[in-house]
Amino acid sequence: MNFIFVGPPGAGKGTIAARVAQELSVPHISTGEIFRENIRGRTELGVKIKELLDRGELVPDHLTIELVKERLTHPDVQSGWILDGFPRTRAQAEALDEFVHIDLIFHLEVDDETVVGRLGGRRVHPASGRTYHVVHNPPKQEGIDDVSGEPLVKRDDDERDAIKHRLEVYRQQTAPVVEYYAAKDRLTQVDASRQMETVLAEVLDLIATRK
Ligand code: AP5
Repeated sequence: MNFIFVGPPGAGKGTIAARVAQELSVPHISTGEIFRENIRGRTELGVKIKELLDRGELVPDHLTIELVKERLTHPDVQSGWILDGFPRTRAQAEALDEFVHIDLIFHLEVDDETVVGRLGGRRVHPASGRTYHVVHNPPKQEGIDDVSGEPLVKRDDDERDAIKHRLEVYRQQTAPVVEYYAAKDRLTQVDASRQMETVLAEVLDLIATRK
């Protein structure tokens, strides 16, 4: 089965998608993570998009759509996939509908105040993308990744001004994606302001019901 997670920055898309992917043994495809890998590896794409990500701007549609199209040809997607952070514009949503079938589209809803609190306290392990929160999901040892023992960092786009700008970009460019799916009655709404384990349990229940 194929699932999508949409919602504002900090809604918990990455956290929930990673856990669901683990439960179902399907790949978790995060466009944000793919872009950050390219930036770390200083690839041609990475160099081109670094400044956009740091400012909280979207990567142009043609680059993002091609990247996802290509990723969905890899052999590991045959028994299903989870897309996190894509589509993020109406053009991306329309393009996706042209080349794949989607079983469930989860819309994770949270208010702005929660977003600011979650992103301000987020810490990540850059090499794996593992994500923590200083209060809600702390690592065993402060500032250290549980698995590798390497240091955790704050993402460049988790600074206050970038968070504010990402919320504006979300309202202008990604809210129309939510409207696009809602108009076709394809959205599954999830109140993502609740505790992580509660949100995860609800998502897994909805998937089990759908199977
Ligand atoms: P991306 O990495 O996708 O960033 P985002 O959508 O802004 O989402 P986040 O990763 O910030 O938040 P999340 O919802 O995954 O929350 P998380 O689970 O980490 O994209 C980054 C950038 O790449 C974009 O700005 C853009 O430039 C570019 N990009 C990506 N996709 C693109 C596209 N399709 N088109 C164009 N450009 C694109 O959780 C946040 C924190 O909260 C964590 O600390 C977590 O531990 C904690 N938390 C999670 N759930 C809960 C809970 N229920 N209770 C308490 N704490 C929680």
